[in-house]
Amino acid sequence: MTEMEAFIADLPKVELHVHIEGTFEPELMLAIAARNGLAAPFPSVEEARAAYAFDDLQAFLDLYYAGMNVLLDARDFHDLTLAYLERAHADKVRHAEIFFDPQAHTGRGVALATVMEGICGALAEGERRFGITTRLIPNFLRDLDEDSAMACFEACLAHRQNICGFGLDSAERGHPPSKFERVFGRVRQEGFHVVAHAGEEGPAAYVSEALDLLGAERIDHGVRAMDDEAVVGRLVREGVVLTVCPLSNVRLRVVSDMAGHPIGRMLERGLKVTINSDDPPYFGGYIGDNFRAVEQALGLDRTALAAMTHNAIDGAFIDAGHRARLHAEVDAYTGG
Ligand code: HPA
Ligand code: ZN
Repeated sequence: MTEMEAFIADLPKVELHVHIEGTFEPELMLAIAARNGLAAPFPSVEEARAAYAFDDLQAFLDLYYAGMNVLLDARDFHDLTLAYLERAHADKVRHAEIFFDPQAHTGRGVALATVMEGICGALAEGERRFGITTRLIPNFLRDLDEDSAMACFEACLAHRQNICGFGLDSAERGHPPSKFERVFGRVRQEGFHVVAHAGEEGPAAYVSEALDLLGAERIDHGVRAMDDEAVVGRLVREGVVLTVCPLSNVRLRVVSDMAGHPIGRMLERGLKVTINSDDPPYFGGYIGDNFRAVEQALGLDRTALAAMTHNAIDGAFIDAGHRARLHAEVDAYTGG
């Protein structure tokens, strides 16, 4: 291990952009399919991994939704979530804000209460065992209509003690934030935080819409904002945290290769960039792998890497004391 690899391995990390259904390792997917008496989407782990070659976001989403079909019971969601936390712990993740897609489960007959029981039980266990604190953020599927998102939101209110905010994910192109103005009005009215995927495959204008029309406090991805200098200027001025997912961007061809990833230029420009994994087994790596890939391709130094963890701490939906403790942990590690 090089000195830089060792620095990255033990750097305390905060992950703000990870979809729990997208952390489904093929081994676990096959095991859960078998115990539920279901046909797995892939006959073997090797064939699953071989199928994870995508031309665009939709090609990934097709496999992502197929994979989660084997999740039926609370125990399934528990095992999925605990496996992520165990892996995140190995990467020195200290705090994680986790997305899930309620409509992708209720739409196939799995009750929201079942999903919540499994995920929340595992989050509590993960905090006890690994000391990882978490927040949970349901995302509305933007390729469904706003009435469906509204019904999802109202159902989530029964679980509000376990939810810190709401987001927007799935197929971006042709589904602008403006489609969800009303439901995010309700989200804010009820006092929840707001995030939104924007500027992944969609244009920089969707980033502006997410801020203006939805009240988004963080932008998930946001890399396409770099196409529009006015949008970049605004994001810098307002200190908006961007949850960038480098390996995801390469695998979904949002960028041509890691050497061409704009994350270094984004940092230099003063954007509050963070590094995240999105859907790790599908895109070839967890948060540590994302840090390593960026460092190797772009040669970012320790200060830049630690700055991205500080940015994530600033963007986390936690109280001031918790925020100060996390900053201090990173400072103690870097000697900063
Ligand atoms: N983009 C949009 N929707 C998603 C993603 C993503 O990377 N992962 C899971 N749902
Ligand atoms: Zn995502």
